[in-house]
Amino acid sequence: MKGIILSGGTATRLFPLTATTSKQLLPVYDRQMIFYPLNTLIKAGIKDILMIVAPEHSGQYLNLLGSIFEKYDIRIDFKVQKSPKGLAEAFVLGEEFIDNGNVTMILGDNIFEDDFSEDIKNFKSGAKIFAKKVADPERSGVVKFDENNKAIQIVEKPKEWISDYAIPGLYIYDNQVSSVAKKVEPSERGEKEITSLHNYYLEKEELEVSIVDGVWLDAGTFDSLLEAGNVVKEKEIYKKFDPVINQAILEFNEELKVMAKKRLI
Ligand code: G1P
Repeated sequence: MKGIILSGGTATRLFPLTATTSKQLLPVYDRQMIFYPLNTLIKAGIKDILMIVAPEHSGQYLNLLGSIFEKYDIRIDFKVQKSPKGLAEAFVLGEEFIDNGNVTMILGDNIFEDDFSEDIKNFKSGAKIFAKKVADPERSGVVKFDENNKAIQIVEKPKEWISDYAIPGLYIYDNQVSSVAKKVEPSERGEKEITSLHNYYLEKEELEVSIVDGVWLDAGTFDSLLEAGNVVKEKEIYKKFDPVINQAILEFNEELKVMAKKRLI
């Protein structure tokens, strides 16, 4: 199983903060946002990760993540996405990296409390996505269930209410994903929607949907960014990180301190 973190985009809703850095490098409590999705993948045993980033932030990502996990046998590759053309484009850009295997994608601004190790490790084929009951489903991809809890309809940001179940930014696919993504036609907003991929798997009856029990945060606005920091602190999500990540962050911080001291001498 390989992992992709989609961390591109311009994040205009967070201007002026994102005029100087990438949204996913902004702090959420005591660490950069990107460490939360990284933790979700690394905790599930994924050791081969592709970061998809915007060109203007690629240097910052390389500085932070370029060598931090090297000694832990976790490999991070980088790919530049010139302009945001939709989430499903990740599988076109990442086709060579995926190399006909299974892949888990997580969005760089999605923070989860739950551990998805079992879902990721036990995944065999088709696609597996998740659902979370929310108060504002119109902001997300949405899934409707029938009376037997079977997914029957998936719509990207529905204008008319269909269900309260949003689809968070964590998706697991088998090796069909790149060829399907290539065929996805851009939507009205000019993007290859992830929802189109899910509808492909839904129609083939190869889509599994599981409910997320714990907290799910998508830190895309000032309020949700603030809420994310507070929830992470309250629920001590950072303490439940994979020990490798916490150790790597600690070592990196030590390195930075040494470098800062040298500059002072
Ligand atoms: C994207 C997806 C949407 C998903 C959401 C999760 O929307 O298009 O289906 O529910 O991420 O964070 P965005 O937030 O990029 O508009």
